[in-house]
Amino acid sequence: MKAFAALQRYHRPTAPLLLDFLAPSALHIRQYHATPARLAESQSNSKPKYVLSKEQREFLDSALRVNQAGELAATLIYTAQTPQVVRSHPHLRPLMKHMYDQEAGHLRTFNQMIAKHRVRPTAMYPIWEAAATFLGWSTGVMGREAAMACTEAVETEIGTHYNEQIREILAWEADAHSRGEELDDELKDMLATFRRIRDEELEHLDHAVENDSKEAQPYDPLVNVIRLGCRAAIKISERV
Ligand SMILES: [Fe+2]
Ligand SMILES: [Fe+2]
Repeated sequence: MKAFAALQRYHRPTAPLLLDFLAPSALHIRQYHATPARLAESQSNSKPKYVLSKEQREFLDSALRVNQAGELAATLIYTAQTPQVVRSHPHLRPLMKHMYDQEAGHLRTFNQMIAKHRVRPTAMYPIWEAAATFLGWSTGVMGREAAMACTEAVETEIGTHYNEQIREILAWEADAHSRGEELDDELKDMLATFRRIRDEELEHLDHAVENDSKEAQPYDPLVNVIRLGCRAAIKISERV
């Protein structure tokens, strides 16, 4: 029932993925890459804005790169899993569609963000595409419980990862406040977006457990290997 309630809440973006990815870079200012002079000029009427260091901007660049890669992988996992899961368990069709639709929305969001901030996508893109499709297909073949265990494992790592990013930006916000400054609007929006997506990922984790992810055979090796793979992919995509 939680899934249906979430379905009703869900707003589905309509712009095509590819266009979002290619088009917006020319339309927006890279606010978090703005210089102190530009910030002072554009925001002279409000509280002074917190100016990010080079390391902080690099942190955001790598966060956006990882998040976009992760959301791409999530859409591909569900694309490969759904037909197999739904064939033997038709009642799961709305849930699988709901989770896929949310992942597609997350991917659109990060496609827009990396274009807007001119962040280089991961060079591992084709590898992650193949790996995610294989992971979705193979857990789908193993059955409903294994497919749900895959979601449980992925969302455990992704939820933790979003939490780390959120904690980092909150630390910057505390630093800004201690100096009588505030985060620029771009960064506040980004923080809100990360929190919303983190909550949706944790909702997927709940759905997976409610749908017997813990019954997967063999549960421990399966979940552990997927979690290890996620952590490795995150580490690599931060840099490459
Ligand atoms: Fe997602
Ligand atoms: Fe998810």
